[in-house]
Amino acid sequence: MSAFPTDKWVPPHMAALDGYHAVEPVASGPGVLKMDLNECQAPPSPRVLAALRAAVAEDATLNWYPNSACTALRRSLGRYLNVPAEFLLVANGSNMAMELIARAFLTKDDPVLIVTPVYAVFSVQCKLQQARIESFQFSKPFAPDFQELLAKGGTHKIIYLANPNNPTGVGYPRDRIRALLEKRRDALVVLDEAYVEYYGESSVGLTETHPNLLVLRSFSKAFSLAGMRCGYVVAQPAVLDILARVLAPWAVSSLTQVAAHAAVEDLEYMRKTVAECGRARHQVVDGLKGLGFVVHNTQANFIIWQVHEPARAVQALAARNVYVSNKDSVPQMKGCLRVTMGNGEQTQRFLGIVQELRAEGLLEP
Ligand SMILES: Cc1ncc(COP(=O)(O)O)c(C=O)c1O
Repeated sequence: MSAFPTDKWVPPHMAALDGYHAVEPVASGPGVLKMDLNECQAPPSPRVLAALRAAVAEDATLNWYPNSACTALRRSLGRYLNVPAEFLLVANGSNMAMELIARAFLTKDDPVLIVTPVYAVFSVQCKLQQARIESFQFSKPFAPDFQELLAKGGTHKIIYLANPNNPTGVGYPRDRIRALLEKRRDALVVLDEAYVEYYGESSVGLTETHPNLLVLRSFSKAFSLAGMRCGYVVAQPAVLDILARVLAPWAVSSLTQVAAHAAVEDLEYMRKTVAECGRARHQVVDGLKGLGFVVHNTQANFIIWQVHEPARAVQALAARNVYVSNKDSVPQMKGCLRVTMGNGEQTQRFLGIVQELRAEGLLEP
């Protein structure tokens, strides 16, 4: 096989790009505690599964392209969020929405501000557009003083932040987001609300009065549909019109639309799993604190757990079929593991295993 001439074909910024390294999911199943990727631990609503079964049974439909505008889904989302359907654009996961935003609005050397530590895909997309990235850090990441961000000067085309944030799990009140939008009318504010169902306070309503706000939402967390790949943007129609120019035609598969639509029509199920996750989070925080660990409770579906030797802890847990995410190398997250919360039964098993590893000296605060 002759070698591919990278120098000849790959632009320098692509050659230098360290893309997003998606962790391959470990096989879930009995005996495995899959607490690494912040997916919902509960399966999708039975109504989603029934709708998918029915859609597949009607075998005359999959040979046709799907409804490109995702009309039924946008209508049901509009009712859920109390925004007009024209304020919604659906994509294959909020990751794809991030890509659309970067491609539509950023060109070489555009300055962007990313509130960090945060989900790494923002910076990957900005680098692809050769934007100039400035990172902003709160002095206390787990108890941020939002005034620090409001006081930040400079010119930025986009300001990126996640609410609640991943990986700190901190939620910023809506009045703080409103203050940012008003202070920084010169910038587009991309607000990633992938975990907002766990937090409870969304800023989507601010899109009506603030043309510079783009809110990203996901079906991968509270709606238990990470495998279907569905997310959406909430923004004014003029903003979405630009994004739609970048979106591939028929981007969202018909089965994805069926599943997401059925999920939004069963909010009771989603709210039940969110409540269950909240109870599990409190139990785990109390349990780990009882074992002498420093733990940060969050406003999302995970907790942040400080351990003495994170790599060794991750290994010891994996040997017991418990998978968590090591955030030790992320700035301001030294010694931190991120652990996705599930239900009561998983909580008891998780705490039991931690207790055993602690007794064996394999896990230390
Ligand atoms: C802040 C944040 N945004 C977006 C995503 C991914 O969302 P999606 O699955 O909709 O692409 C994640 C996944 O972990 C996340 O943490």
